[in-house]
Formats: sequence, structure tokens, C-alpha cells
Amino acid sequence: MTYQNLVISSRSYIRHIVIAREEKLNALNKQTLAALHDAIIRALAADTIRGIVLTGAGDKAFVAGADISEFANFDTAQGRALAYEGQTNVFDLIHNAGKPIIAAINGYALGGGLELALACHIRVAAASAKLGLPETSLGLIPGYGGTPRLTQLIGRGRAMEMILTGDMISANDALEYGLVNHVVEPADLLPKAESILQRIASRSPTAVSAAIKAVNASLGSVKRGFETEINLFGQCFGTGDFKDGVSAFLENRKPNF
Ligand code: COA
Repeated sequence: MTYQNLVISSRSYIRHIVIAREEKLNALNKQTLAALHDAIIRALAADTIRGIVLTGAGDKAFVAGADISEFANFDTAQGRALAYEGQTNVFDLIHNAGKPIIAAINGYALGGGLELALACHIRVAAASAKLGLPETSLGLIPGYGGTPRLTQLIGRGRAMEMILTGDMISANDALEYGLVNHVVEPADLLPKAESILQRIASRSPTAVSAAIKAVNASLGSVKRGFETEINLFGQCFGTGDFKDGVSAFLENRKPNF
């Protein structure tokens, strides 16, 4: 199967999915999200595959977020649908996958890009990576599961600081926060992700699948967080701050909040 914005390959039990829209820093547009859904479903169904590495093309970005130009004119209902469909079709699919999925964070992981990494089971980052949830700078909040997943992973205080300031953090800070499991030199990023998956591939696939389910089940009470996020994300689209924030990004100027 070939996709316009994904490069797919397989090597000894591992499916590599590379998000390849380098000229837009691999931003997630509708087409890329649909392709990701399809590619992940196929990898999960393939008997020969025991794990997935998700990364971005080039050395600048993992994924620099949802594609801002696609939702610039959305209203509250469209904003809500964007979050709901994205969460259901891609981010929850990854979170609940019965095979391990590792995010190999090779550069900017911002907004929906960091949320994509957060949905994965394990994160490995290149030392040059920068991570953040800059949505408040656009008059938005994270909409692809970032508020519950980040809070659960690194704790309320650090999650609040990242989400409210919208600032990026370094790979080493992300390691200290427990946001990524390992930081390596860029050249070692894919080998590191592969070596973790090879260890997992040597274990019982049914036990690995059950273990993912069991760990995820312990997060059940966070469910309300996802629903709340979808509703509030949608409401942001009815605000003047959102309209100005997104126009400012697209026009290369500072917003007037
Ligand atoms: N959506 C749509 N396009 C995006 C994008 C996004 N999330 N992130 C980057 N791009 C595009 C830029 O518009 C630019 O396109 P152009 O060459 O057609 O003008 C291209 O990718 C390169 O980005 P640019 O901003 O020129 O690179 P930079 O090195 O100056 O800055 C970033 C890099 C990551 C700091 C900057 O691109 C950025 O802030 N991106 C948006 C991050 C964000 O807010 N994400 C959350 C979205 S909800």
C-alpha cells in the first residue's frame, strides 16, 4: 500500500511508518490522518508485524502539529468534530493498539505532533527534538488527547506549565519529566526504537497485547478528560482569540489577545 504523505517499510517484525510532508514540517492534514488510520490498521492486522515505529521525515520535525491552514475557518461544531474524529480514528487507535507503537521523535513534536507521540506506548527522542503544546498561542487548547495524556504522564503541575505557557521544552527536559523514555543522538534514534521493539518481539505477542490492555485499563478514569477536552476544544472555535490566533500564524504576525 502506498500513501501520498506516508512512507511505509518493514524490517524483521517491525513496521516503519514515516510521516512525510517535510515541506510543512509533517503537519497532520486530513489526508495524512486518514492515511495514518489505514496504515496502522494494516500493521495491526499483519501477522508478520510485532511492533510499529512512527517517525517524521527529515531531521527538522517529527510533526509540527495539526495543519493549521485546514481549520482556520472552522466553527465550534467543526472544531468539536475535528477533535472527536481525530481522537477516535487515530489517537485512540494508537493508544489502544494490541501491538507496541514507539514514537521516534526526530525534531519538533508540537501540538498534534506531541499528542501523537503521547498516544504511542513508548517515546524515544533525538537530542535535538523540541516538544510542546503551543495551542494557547492560537486561542485553542490541545484537541487530540493532550490534556489528559500529558497530565497522566508527567503530572498536573508540569502539564499545566507546558499547556498554559505553550512553550517548547528540550529533549533532556522531556527526559527529566518522564515525557520520553530515552534521549539519543539523532543517528541512534531509529536503532534505539528498533532495539526496544526487538526485545518486545522476543516476548509472547498475546502477553504483550494483554499487558498493553491492562496498563491502559488503569487510566480509565481519565476518560472524562477526553470528553471534556473535545467539548472545550470545540468551544474555542467560537472565540475571537481563535480567529485572531490562527490568522496571526498564517499571516506571520503576533496575535492581539
Ligand atoms: N500547520 C500548517 N503548516 C505548518 C505547521 C502547522 N502546524 N507548522 C509548520 N507549518 C508550515 C509553515 O506554515 C511553513 O509553510 P510555508 O513554507 O508554506 O510558509 C512550513 O511549514 C515551514 O515552517 P516555518 O514556520 O517556516 O518553519 P520555522 O523553522 O520558521 O518554524 C515552527 C518552525 C515549528 C516553530 C513553526 O513552523 C510553528 O510554530 N509551527 C506551528 C506549530 C503549532 O502551533 N502547532 C500546533 C498546531 S495546533
